[in-house]
Amino acid sequence: MYHARNPGDKGRVCAAIGAAYHAAVAATIRAAGAGDYEAFCRLVPELGVDDPTPSPERFAAEMAPRMLLAERDVSSRREVVGYVLFDVLAGVAYVRHLVSAQAARRTGVGRALLWAVAEAAMARGVTTWVLNVKPDNVAAITLYESLGFRRTFRVHAVRIDWADVARVARDVAGVAVTVLAPEDDAGVETALGLLSGQLGSARALGGRTFHVARRGDAVVGVSAFDPGFPGTYPFKAASPEIAFALLRAARAHAPADQTFVNMKLDDLEAVKDAVLAAGGTLRLEVQALAGTLPQPMPRSS
Ligand SMILES: CC(C)(COP(=O)(O)OP(=O)(O)OC[C@H]1O[C@@H](n2cnc3c(N)ncnc32)[C@H](O)[C@@H]1OP(=O)(O)O)[C@@H](O)C(=O)NCCC(=O)NCCS
Repeated sequence: MYHARNPGDKGRVCAAIGAAYHAAVAATIRAAGAGDYEAFCRLVPELGVDDPTPSPERFAAEMAPRMLLAERDVSSRREVVGYVLFDVLAGVAYVRHLVSAQAARRTGVGRALLWAVAEAAMARGVTTWVLNVKPDNVAAITLYESLGFRRTFRVHAVRIDWADVARVARDVAGVAVTVLAPEDDAGVETALGLLSGQLGSARALGGRTFHVARRGDAVVGVSAFDPGFPGTYPFKAASPEIAFALLRAARAHAPADQTFVNMKLDDLEAVKDAVLAAGGTLRLEVQALAGTLPQPMPRSS
């Protein structure tokens, strides 16, 4: 278990959280449970995103098993002062949320939570970690970079009306868009630089349709479309024209009265620009970071 340092302790920064803090322990890290819903609801607004708050049932089933909490003594009782939500995927740990209570900031809570994620990931044989952060979040980026994360690419969430897709999309010479068979997932992931297992994870959620774009034998795009959201992810395309051809194929699987589609675009600046030029809107821009898990992991009691 890792301990964050004492509040106000501005002494020697220990690169190995937990290794040298024998004195007063400010916070400890533990696994979350269903009973931590209230603490989660208190802390999650600090992320500043407008996602709907999950129900207690959904929190218990889908979030608590992927969450670690930082606890500290406040007024003689234990209080949750931070949490991290993360996934360990094939070969990579994905940090989804990291929050430290305002009153506990700059006391090592955020760093201790990340070290605990690193330990959990390495215990499962994972050596790299990734996350997304708002580009102007100096506090978080400074923390992540101090742990070895480096900026990789921008992620854009955009929305476009189906009518604009219909207006802009056209056949692309030499490119065929077809339904993607599950047995071809792995080859498409490799060809397009997706995470291993990413398409399978999307299939497991159900309700999605998958299309692949090929130029001859070469894979030049893929789309997983969820008509319920509605949105595409994962989505890759070698050019804006191929992106619109993939969207047009997805449209056939959307309810007739659906008016728009959301897209999450990883490292697809040209597609983002083309969607905006076609009448779409930019809903969010975030910076992707990636790093190698720090080695060796320090341990404390
Ligand atoms: C980002 C956040 C989790 C950091 O938590 P924290 O508990 O304050 O972090 P720590 O005390 O462990 O800080 C570790 C290091 O991060 C950096 N850091 C933290 N806050 C910083 C700030 N406001 N400005 C610059 N650097 C900062 C420093 O290098 C710090 O080390 P130092 O205190 O020895 O200088 C916290 O600010 C937070 O909850 N913000 C709101 C939610 C959020 O933006 N989450 C990230 C989403 S991707």
